[in-house]
Amino acid sequence: MTQAITILVGTMTGTAELVAQELSDVLKVQGFAPRVEPMEKVAADVFESGGVFLIVSSTYGNGDVPDNAQAFFADLSTSRPDLSNVIYGLIALGDTTYKATFCQGGLKFDRLLTELGAARAGAPFLHDASSGELAEDQACGWVAEWISSELAPAMAA
Ligand SMILES: Cc1cc2nc3c(=O)[nH]c(=O)nc-3n(C[C@H](O)[C@H](O)[C@H](O)COP(=O)(O)O)c2cc1C
Repeated sequence: MTQAITILVGTMTGTAELVAQELSDVLKVQGFAPRVEPMEKVAADVFESGGVFLIVSSTYGNGDVPDNAQAFFADLSTSRPDLSNVIYGLIALGDTTYKATFCQGGLKFDRLLTELGAARAGAPFLHDASSGELAEDQACGWVAEWISSELAPAMAA
């Protein structure tokens, strides 16, 4: 059966959404069944049946998750579901201009999901908007490697 991957998007100005769309195209070519969900459209029960997820979130404010992710993050923090049947990869978007809070929005999701028992496959991918590299290009390169080196072993475990 084709493996489903849900891509959850936290964004303020659309970069993470663009990243998610391009990741979705790459994942389709690789034989997966991706689904892109903006975080304002989901609640903690998105994880109810477990499975494979990619979290793509930017950072705003004082190292916080974007506005469209606030309610979802709060719901997860209060309802604290058991996510031991969830495998996820993390793509955090940020800017090293914000030294003290670089990519902390995505990394907040990482800490919370790990606390709730989810298993992260591979290291988080951190994109720096000041690097001059396009987030979508770097993320697509990252995900191809992630699938073969990280996701496959995590799913077999
Ligand atoms: C007002 C504002 C605040 C930001 N705060 C942070 C921050 O605290 N840490 C960080 O790493 N990046 C921060 N960023 C950078 C964004 O996270 C980065 O540009 C990201 O690529 C935007 O993605 P998006 O278009 O999906 O929201 C900030 C950007 C803006 C405009």
